[in-house]
Parts: sequence; C-alpha cells; structure tokens
Amino acid sequence: MLNINEATKIFNKNTPDEHIALNNLSLEVSDGEFVTIIGGNGAGKSTLFNAISGTLLCESGTISLDGQDITHMAEFKRAEFIGRIFQDPMRGTAPHLTVGENLIIAYMRSIKKNMLGIPSKKEKNYIKERLAALNLGLEDRMNTKIGLLSGGQRQAVTLVMATLVKPKLLLLDEHTAALDPVSAKSVIDLTNKIVSENNITTLMITHNITSALAMGTRTIMMDSGTIAVDIKGDERKELTVQDVLKKFNSVKKKEFDDDNVLL
Ligand SMILES: Nc1ncnc2c1ncn2[C@@H]1O[C@H](COP(=O)(O)OP(=O)(O)OP(=O)(O)O)[C@@H](O)[C@H]1O
Ligand SMILES: [Mg+2]
Repeated sequence: MLNINEATKIFNKNTPDEHIALNNLSLEVSDGEFVTIIGGNGAGKSTLFNAISGTLLCESGTISLDGQDITHMAEFKRAEFIGRIFQDPMRGTAPHLTVGENLIIAYMRSIKKNMLGIPSKKEKNYIKERLAALNLGLEDRMNTKIGLLSGGQRQAVTLVMATLVKPKLLLLDEHTAALDPVSAKSVIDLTNKIVSENNITTLMITHNITSALAMGTRTIMMDSGTIAVDIKGDERKELTVQDVLKKFNSVKKKEFDDDNVLL
C-alpha cells in the first residue's frame, strides 16, 4: 500500500516566485489498485510522482510504501521497487545501448544484482519471453540500439523494463502522450495487459479523460496541488467524460465545454 500523508512541496520558498506545488496532499492507494490521475497543466501531477520516486523531497509530510517509510530514501534506492515511465520515450533508457542491454540492466537493477552483472541463460530467456509476449516482434531486435526504435516500440520496451520484476508501484506520467494514435492505443493495451496480469499497483497520469475512465479502478483529479475529486466503484462506472468536465468546471469555477483544457 502507498500512503502519502499531508505532503507539501514548495518551490522557490521565500522568494517572489514561491509556488506551492503540493498542498498538504494525502493519498492512500491499496495493493493492486490502478489509479488514473487527471488535472490541468501545473496541477502538481508530475510533482506528486517526483515526490513519490524521490526526485525531490517534500517540505513536510510522509510517504510510505508497503509499510516502509521512504520519505527520505534516495531516488536510486526507490528505483529498485518503483517503476516510472515518462512522456518522452527516450527517458529511462540508454539510447546507445541495445534493446537487450537495456533490458538486462533494468533486470539486474530490479533483482539488486550489480548492474553490470551477467545474467544466466535462464534469465536471458525470461527477458526474451517477456519481450516476445508483446507480440511486436521485438524479440528479434535484441541487438538493435534502442534509440533506433520508434517511440511506440520504445515505450513498449520501457514497460517491460519497468515490470521484469514486479515493482511495488508503477508510475506512468503521460506515457502515451508523445505517440501517434495507433501506437498510443497499442501501448495503452499493453499497459492494461501487463498491469492486470501482474496485479501491479499503478498510478497513471493522462490528459485523455476517456482513457482515465476506461482504464484502472479509480480516478483522481488534481488541482492546485491537492486532490479535488476522487472517484471509484459504482460511481465511477457510470461516469461520462461530460460528468468529469462538469466536475472540473466546478473545481475551477470556470466554464469549459470540451476536454481541450485537459489536453
Ligand atoms: N523544479 C521546479 N522548480 C520550480 N517550479 C516547479 C518545478 N517543478 C514544477 N514546478 C511548478 O510546480 C507546478 C506543478 O508542476 P507539475 O509539473 O507538477 O504540473 P503537472 O500537473 O504535471 O502539469 P502538466 O500537465 O503540464 O504536466 C507548476 O506551476 C510548475 O511550474
Ligand atoms: Mg506533468
């Protein structure tokens, strides 16, 4: 379980540019829950992920994962059990290394072996099988430099890298936003498959309200560093994109008539 208790992050504190990016935010996510996160630009979504993964430390509040207090744990230590995928398909991979080398490094890190360690034949076969399960033919491109793959192919490999060993938490920050619609759909399908087959606790930021409602088990809307709306269960099942926009309007106290505000 992820437990965030009253987290506050202030950028440029005590300067004219002071900005409260996370405002006393509390959030509890149960094991196996798949939460989609929406909210306007600057709402604090990526900052929340930065706080969870240790890219930045909060001014106050605590974060724990599976009962372990990780509030002050270094980012590289958290990376052993928190998988994170970014909007930019180049992030999180070493572009000059091959697909196979990237996967092996990710695997070695997850099982806490030396990153430069040599995997056994069994481990290599497992990595290849996971790639083959994507049905994208990438298992035949193990020796291709990962930077030469298309954005969609790279995001698919990154998903496998992040889940070779089941992470305690998977953070997806608009991981399909830079892809063409066909590749985005394919990566969304893969995300659903990998998350559900492995029952991975997942948080996914998206600007696509349709995806936010169709995927996962719970949707939260962030605004001004807080959680403004939190919907799950039957209420969520009946929710339409228009309902979400209405909620967004009432939160922002402004009128928006399409989802461009969130795109
Ligand atoms: N390193 C930083 N230094 C100063 N301000 C920052 C920093 N990172 C984020 N911010 C500010 O904090 C606020 C929240 O940013 P954040 O990136 O979390 O928004 P977001 O919800 O992810 O938005 P988007 O949908 O545009 O990705 C913004 O006003 C942003 O300018
Ligand atoms: Mg962001």
